[in-house]
Amino acid sequence: MTRTRSAAALRRTLDAFRLRGETIAFVPTMGALHAGHRALIERAAGPGRRVVVSIFVNPLQFGPREDFGAYPRTPAADLALCRAAGADVVFLPDPGTMYPGGFATTVHVELGTSVLCAPHRPGHFDGVTTVVAKLLNIVRPDRLLLGQKDAQQAVLVGRMIGDLGLPVVLDVAPTVREADGLALSSRNRYLTPEERTAAPALYRALQGARRLVRDGERSAARVRTAVRRGIAAESRFRLQYAEVVDARTLEPCRRLSGRVLVAAAAFLGRARLIDNVVVTVPAASEPARRPSQKGVVA
Ligand code: PAF
Repeated sequence: MTRTRSAAALRRTLDAFRLRGETIAFVPTMGALHAGHRALIERAAGPGRRVVVSIFVNPLQFGPREDFGAYPRTPAADLALCRAAGADVVFLPDPGTMYPGGFATTVHVELGTSVLCAPHRPGHFDGVTTVVAKLLNIVRPDRLLLGQKDAQQAVLVGRMIGDLGLPVVLDVAPTVREADGLALSSRNRYLTPEERTAAPALYRALQGARRLVRDGERSAARVRTAVRRGIAAESRFRLQYAEVVDARTLEPCRRLSGRVLVAAAAFLGRARLIDNVVVTVPAASEPARRPSQKGVVA
């Protein structure tokens, strides 16, 4: 595994791979890597494929009162995880490489701007799409891997790729969870032991929503209310949102149909946790599925 801070050196390495007929899979990260990132890197690897991981804590996607300064930075452990997971190259750009003086461009995707995380984190997704566009231009991968936990990010990046005709395939990997259901996140390390015990209630509430839909509920309002109640049952949570939207367009739903995204965000102490499930709603002519049947994915 090699590592570099230089975009030019990275390009030279990747050009040499391409000359040998190898393809490039790319896993962008902000470091503080965990088993969810490891799963992405392992999924990215394959015959004839080289895996590039970037580690860059992107200032553009943090609000002024957010945790940019405190965001965990664990470079030695990150490099060890990348190596063990099978990464070929780790790109660790400096802020000056990503945003040289006078940088004046923002990539904005006009989708889902009033739902889920967007209204609570103004500018966040512009920061994400801008850095991902820049990284894609440096790495020029054939395949880009993102995690389903950040569902809104994945939808917006997918739309950016489609709208701009970027020559890359987006692969969204399932959320990796602890045994008790908590979605892995770099911010889980902010949880105190008591908060960590309470944290799986978020996913339990989402699973409750999935069961409701599977049992025939088609009112988005009632599903939303059930998620809110489920989260409120754990009094340590401070709910930010619980919403039900179309999984592809992020349009809010009234009646559930097609693939819907049930997503929530809540603070537990200083950790802001997000999670979601995607539910495929059977067509109206199909009977509601019984709990033992498949057809619903997280
Ligand atoms: O998901 C993340 O870690 C970040 O949002 C990303 C995609 C690396 C962009 O900074």
